Parts: sequence; structure tokens; C-alpha cells
Amino acid sequence: MTEQLPVRLVGITKRFPGVVANDGVDLDLRVGEVHGLLGENGAGKSTLMNILFGLYTPEEGQIFVNGQPVIIDSPAKAISLGIGMIHQHFRLVRPFTVTENIILGLDSTPAILDMKAAATRVAQVARQYGIQINPNARIENLSVGEQQRVEILNSLYREANVLILDEPTAVLTPQEAQDLAVTLREMASQGKAVVFISHKLDEVMDVTDRVTVLRRGRKVFEAMTADTSKGELAREMIGHKLEEFKREQKAFIMALTGAGEVTAAGDGSAAGHHEAAAARPVLTVQNLVVNDDRDLPACREVSFEIAAGEILGVAGVDGNGQRELIEALTGQRPALEGHISVNGKDATRWTPRQVIDHDVAVITDDRQGEGLLLKTSVARNTVLKLFERPAFAKRRMLRFGAIDSFAEQLVQDYSISTPGVQVAAAKLSGGNQQKIILARELSQSPALIIANKPTRGLDIGAATYVHQKLSEERDRGAAVLLISADLDELFALSDRLMVIYSGRVMGIMPIEEADLERVGLMMAGTSDGGRPTSEQVTP
Ligand SMILES: Nc1ncnc2c1ncn2[C@@H]1O[C@H](COP(=O)(O)OP(=O)(O)O)[C@@H](O)[C@H]1O
Ligand SMILES: [Mg+2]
Repeated sequence: MTEQLPVRLVGITKRFPGVVANDGVDLDLRVGEVHGLLGENGAGKSTLMNILFGLYTPEEGQIFVNGQPVIIDSPAKAISLGIGMIHQHFRLVRPFTVTENIILGLDSTPAILDMKAAATRVAQVARQYGIQINPNARIENLSVGEQQRVEILNSLYREANVLILDEPTAVLTPQEAQDLAVTLREMASQGKAVVFISHKLDEVMDVTDRVTVLRRGRKVFEAMTADTSKGELAREMIGHKLEEFKREQKAFIMALTGAGEVTAAGDGSAAGHHEAAAARPVLTVQNLVVNDDRDLPACREVSFEIAAGEILGVAGVDGNGQRELIEALTGQRPALEGHISVNGKDATRWTPRQVIDHDVAVITDDRQGEGLLLKTSVARNTVLKLFERPAFAKRRMLRFGAIDSFAEQLVQDYSISTPGVQVAAAKLSGGNQQKIILARELSQSPALIIANKPTRGLDIGAATYVHQKLSEERDRGAAVLLISADLDELFALSDRLMVIYSGRVMGIMPIEEADLERVGLMMAGTSDGGRPTSEQVTP
């Protein structure tokens, strides 16, 4: 009986400052199963598994291994209990071979290493689980997928009974992901318990026997894979946050203004903008093909338009080409094929400077990276992109007086809470830093606004402010591309919603035709069974 449940987690609670990462989570891992652990980003999957692997200590809860209560206070302890974990970032020594890496990590490294015998043993374990690897290859010559196999082999060599893989397919090509699926099934059939973390529903349906869904730190769902569906899993992952969110937003605004007449950003956003939606396109993207840093396709024939006075929301799980799309649109990444035009001008090969000079505003979540110079004053940050303009510079000399009064005006207009415009941007809260970016980007009445997760990490007040500003800009006539991992935000603000998956446009629909299940399915790579959309882009 006990060996049927090699691991039981009971009531695990783990808090980080400001967030309950795991809230009373129970999880059983059975012999011979691949157990899918699902949830949106931040749901608590990695935290739970890092606890099982001894990287974090929970505040509450108990772990049982083979029926015995244990305290796992280090990875060494986890390994000694037969638990192995394959992280996204590998810990291999690059100049060494596969075998050397496996042998050198062992506690009981034999005094005189017999590399030949060791290599034979490594090859044998690899064969047993159908893992394709040359034991004598040097790590530095291996692809990411092969390095991952070495990590798996490493755990198997140590006779781990429980293997945890944290989003292993995120770094793999589709073919490598297929191979990995075969290996995982093989490990399960030989009696291992495998934890497979992913948010790609196709893979989860394909490879797992059982699934657990976490949402905001809580376990919300568990089922045999055969008894559930992608639609159900998508709903469980996403939850019913929309109404909750709108309530919070309204309550916040009431508290702020002491009255109810200010409507939450996006309330009724879809109404009244359809005349505008028929207006001229500000941004046109046609069959855009862009590769990622590893030179694999990131955007595959992406096509869409945004009209003046329209917000096009882009829904998709992180890492499905959003970043590369934005980089292509802002002159930071080459378009391999296809066309981009802004207000009728060919923008396919614009430099970042040209993008700025053509009234394109960029608002990102990367406030500390590309958005702001943190050590620099608030004043200078407000003119970061503008200081070449005559108002602020004369013969390459900055006109500080003009810059300061410009900044003071923006601080007032955007209610930026700061002791003064000479203070370093680093001294401001995240919300006020984001307001500086908004002020700077929106002060020039941009024709096109590219907003990438503009409210990530902001509290509800600051997020609401950003939402209001984006709606105002849309109402003024700007075209807005809003990329977000937050469906609530997308539903609240968008006039139309585009869903991308694996670099492809799965569909574009008016927001009234979007519902969570439909969007969730598309985000997971399933097009919605022929339901009519006003625009459907199929490759
Ligand atoms: N080391 C840490 N310090 C502070 N907060 C953390 C830490 N690790 C995770 N978190 C927070 O805990 C929550 C769960 O994160 P995580 O377990 O990484 O989620 P997932 O793996 O499901 O994406 C998130 O809100 C995350 O920001
Ligand atoms: Mg994670």
C-alpha cells in the first residue's frame, strides 16, 4: 500500500512577502504515473516542487515519503530520499563530458575513477529509458534538449523514484518535446512517479495520467486526465476572476473618490467604439515572420490591423511570440518576412529611433530595464526620448529649465507622487515609476501605443490608473496594442481580442464574442471548432 504513494504532500503553506505562494496544498504522487501540475504563471507550481526538493521550507504542512513523515531541508536530503528535480536552468559543467558530469556529482565518487565502466553504466541507464545521448559527448557541444536529457539521466543514475520536471518543454523544439514525452511515459511504466509542470494543455493531455491545477496558491482541481478536458482545465486555471476584478476596481475607485460617478476603466469599453473600429488602420501587420534568440520561429505569419480609436488586446500564455512581436514592431528585432506599416508608411525596417519619431509610444512592464534610467532624475526621465527636440535641446545642449518645467507639468497632470523632479527615479514606487513612463509616452499624443503588460507588478490603484489612461488615449483616437498575460485586463479594456499560440494568430474577435472558455482553449492551441468569428486567420 505505502509504496503505491511514494510521496504525499499534506496542507503545504508557503508565504513570501506579500503573497501566499502555496495555501494548504495537498498532493499525492503515485507509483507509475505522470502527474501534471498546471496553473497560470505565479500559481505556485515551482514553489510547491521546490519545497519537495528541499529548496524552500514550508511554514505549514507535512511531507510523507513512502508513508514516513520526513523533513526535507536540502536538495541533498531530497536526493537521498529518491527525489530528483530537473530545473529549467541546468547545472552542468560545460567542458566536461556527460559521464563526468554524472559521476562527479555523486557523493560516493570512487577514489580511482573508472570512466570507461562509468560510461558503460550511463549508456545502459540511457538505453533502459530510451534516452538518446552519447555518454562521451562534452556538454558544451550539446543542444539544450540534450543537456536536459543529461539532467534526467543524472537523476535516473541516482535511482530517483520521483522525478520533477519544471516546465521542461519550454526550452525544447517540438521534436525534442515529443522525445521527452516518450521518455516520461517510459519512466512511469518502469515504476517512477513523474511530476510534469506545464501550462500547455495539449502536452498535458498527451503525456499525463492525472492532473492537479493550482490557482493563486490553492489547489482547485484534481482529476484523472482521461476524465477531464482541455476546456475544463483551461477554466480551472483561469478561474472566474473577471467579476471579482471588476468589483475590486469599482470598490477602489469609490474609496478614492468618495463617489460612484467615476466608472472603472473599461466599463462599457466595447460600447461606442465600433464606428471608430471601422476607421483607417493605424497599424497594419501582414504575414509577419520573426525568429527568437535561438533562431526558431517565434511569430508565424502574424496578420492583424488596429484602427484609430481602437484597443486590440492580445491574449496568450507568456512565451508564445509576444515579446518577439513587440520587438519587431519597435525596431529591435528583424522581420524575416512580411510587412509592418504605421499610418500608411512602411515600418518593416524602422530603427527604434524611427519608431519614436513616428509617434509610436511604448509602455512595457520592464520599468527598470528599458523603461527608465533609474539613477537619473524624474525630470530627465520624462524627456528620455525627446531630448533631441528643439524644445529641450539647443545645439546639443540640454535646456534644463525647459525640461524641469515640462517634468513639473507632467508630475501634476499624472499625479506622480514624488518629492520633486530632481529626485532619482529609483526613489519612486513601482506605480509612480510607471506613471513617469505613461506621462512621457502619452504626453506626445501618440498615434499608436504599444503596451506590453503595462500593469504587471502594480497595485490595483496604479493598475486602474493605467487602464484609465489607455482608455482615454483610445477615446482620443490612438490605436492601442495591448499585450497582457492578465485576461481580466484584456476583457476590461479591449475592443477586439486576438489570441496567439505558438506564434500564430488563433483568432481575432470582437470582445462581445469572447468568453473565458473560448479564449482559454485558443490560448492552449485549440482553435474553436468552427464557431464563426468576424475575422479568423488560419495559416
Ligand atoms: N523566492 C521568492 N521570493 C518571493 N516571492 C516568490 C518567490 N518565489 C515565488 N514567489 C512568488 O510566489 C508566487 C508563486 O510563484 P511560483 O511558484 O514561481 O509560480 P509558478 O511556478 O506557478 O509560476 C508568485 O506570486 C511569485 O511571485
Ligand atoms: Mg514556475
